[in-house]
Amino acid sequence: MASVLVFPATSTSASFLLRPSLPIRFNSLFHNRSTISLTQLPRFGVRCSYAEASINADSNSATIDVVADVRSERIVVLGGSGFVGSAICKAAVSKGIEVVSVSRSGRPTYPGSWIDQVSWIPGDVFYLNWDEVLPGATAVVSTIGGFGSEEQMLRINGEANVVAVNAAKDYGIPKFVFISVHDYNLPSFLLSSGYFAGKRKAESEVLSKYPNSGIVLRPGFIYGKRRVDSYEIPLDLVGEPLERILRSVENFTKPLNSLPASDLILAPPVSVDDVALAAINSITDDDFFGVYTIDQIKEAAKKVKV
Ligand SMILES: NC(=O)c1ccc[n+]([C@@H]2O[C@H](COP(=O)([O-])OP(=O)(O)OC[C@H]3O[C@@H](n4cnc5c(N)ncnc54)[C@H](OP(=O)(O)O)[C@@H]3O)[C@@H](O)[C@H]2O)c1
Repeated sequence: MASVLVFPATSTSASFLLRPSLPIRFNSLFHNRSTISLTQLPRFGVRCSYAEASINADSNSATIDVVADVRSERIVVLGGSGFVGSAICKAAVSKGIEVVSVSRSGRPTYPGSWIDQVSWIPGDVFYLNWDEVLPGATAVVSTIGGFGSEEQMLRINGEANVVAVNAAKDYGIPKFVFISVHDYNLPSFLLSSGYFAGKRKAESEVLSKYPNSGIVLRPGFIYGKRRVDSYEIPLDLVGEPLERILRSVENFTKPLNSLPASDLILAPPVSVDDVALAAINSITDDDFFGVYTIDQIKEAAKKVKV
């Protein structure tokens, strides 16, 4: 662990006392760590000793040593070039988190100052050399998923993520965050389609391999500005007002929630920024694990919103 000496703003070099004294260790000052071992994670230490401004360097008065463990995050976003993945990369960069993205297309072609702060690795999760990607990572976030034939949907929503979860587990990565999907109260014959079956298979893998730190976010329709080549599709023009309307009437529509497939109409959309912030919250808050609904995603996003 590297040690950094920090002079508090109020202290002068004369009041900085290098005397042995009782160290106080604050693990919870920056993060609430309760479930996984900090020793697994890359950290740097901040050590400082200080005394009241009125105490001079020659006095024998007691000093306080503070040793704080600050975790530096390094996340791997699978599908970081996609709609949701790029929002996660951008939010992570803004929080000072080191980000590596993996997708077949690699670095996006559109401009953005945050794009230069992400390491873009082109690759397919089925053929990836994980050695180039995972060592040193503190979390893997998977946004991999998509549509196609039944077989393709099972493969991309399910198997691709199962491969990723197992690779992360093998490399000892402490957290896995999976962007899944809300079930919309669909009848079971529809939930057995490749898309939903793939998602649920991936969810089970996350929750069984990461019982105390795996996170599954289940958003419904996600709105924001989706980039397709050089165009931007403003999904927020529909999604944002729709979210507001559905939230304002949810007390009246609650009785309808038990109807099959009712959530296709009633589940509130969620902004891509909220999904990204909920993912960031799940990376930085170790008390956050398990399956998260649309409302819980909104709540988690609020915790890290500035
Ligand atoms: N958008 C929504 O409204 C919504 C709602 C609920 C849930 N979701 C879920 O949220 C996730 C993200 O959705 P999205 O809209 O952001 O999708 P997206 O824009 O299509 O992003 C998917 C990303 O995964 C990458 N990818 C796909 N196959 C890959 C592979 N074999 N290896 C490496 N990377 C691969 C894609 O990049 P390359 O093609 O370049 O590889 C892309 O970056 C999906 O799982 C989706 O099911 C989305």
